[in-house]
Amino acid sequence: MGLTVALTKGRLADKAIDLFVRAGVICPAMKETMGEAARRLIFSNEDAGLSFFMAKAPDVPTYVDYGAADVGIAGKDTLLEGGRHLYEVLDLKFGVCKMVVAGYEKTRDRLRYGNNLRVATKYPHIALDYFSRRKQQTVEIVKLNGSVELAPIIGLADVIVDIVESGVTLAENGLSVLEEITSLSARMVVNRASMKMRRSHVAELIKKLKHVLTLEDTLWNAGPK
Ligand code: PRP
Repeated sequence: MGLTVALTKGRLADKAIDLFVRAGVICPAMKETMGEAARRLIFSNEDAGLSFFMAKAPDVPTYVDYGAADVGIAGKDTLLEGGRHLYEVLDLKFGVCKMVVAGYEKTRDRLRYGNNLRVATKYPHIALDYFSRRKQQTVEIVKLNGSVELAPIIGLADVIVDIVESGVTLAENGLSVLEEITSLSARMVVNRASMKMRRSHVAELIKKLKHVLTLEDTLWNAGPK
């Protein structure tokens, strides 16, 4: 029996598919039907013994935890927020970004020392962990589902906890990074039972992906400075 791989829809999808193509486990023709624009959700490559499905980011760790997928490709943000017990086996080096606290510059001092700030975020667990465990500050967390940058502008919250990639969204809305929480990137995760029961198949997939990543890292480092 082959492996089932859960991929994250959206930004990470095309990059994950590209990596699998470079590793030779998805043929380029198959890629056309799987991209971000495609509507089909399940694909299989019987020769490689792999099937893939596309899920919403927060659902990928859930599918892997329950064993509905043996392997998942998900952002570290989603994995931290989900708090599932999975084996995180590879940093895939794409989807690189940061989890930060952002807001207006004028909030910087209150953020450093104050309590009772209101924090808007799509990541309530990461935000709570950061403020209560790491900074020992009492905050009120407001869960939002997107366009979180609106919250300080409209006056819903003092600061946000969110992902920054290019920084354009913050800059265009007059907000700044006030504190950095952690660096993020896409990771490969494996179900705990699959790691034991399908060890050789999982190891083979890790080996293929690792080979591509190492090769590209070497070429990148050897390139013109
Ligand atoms: C993410 C994130 C920021 C933005 C950061 O949102 O929540 O809003 O991207 O990217 P940047 O630093 O390159 O500007 P996403 O596009 O996923 O949409 P959402 O806010 O609706 O969740």
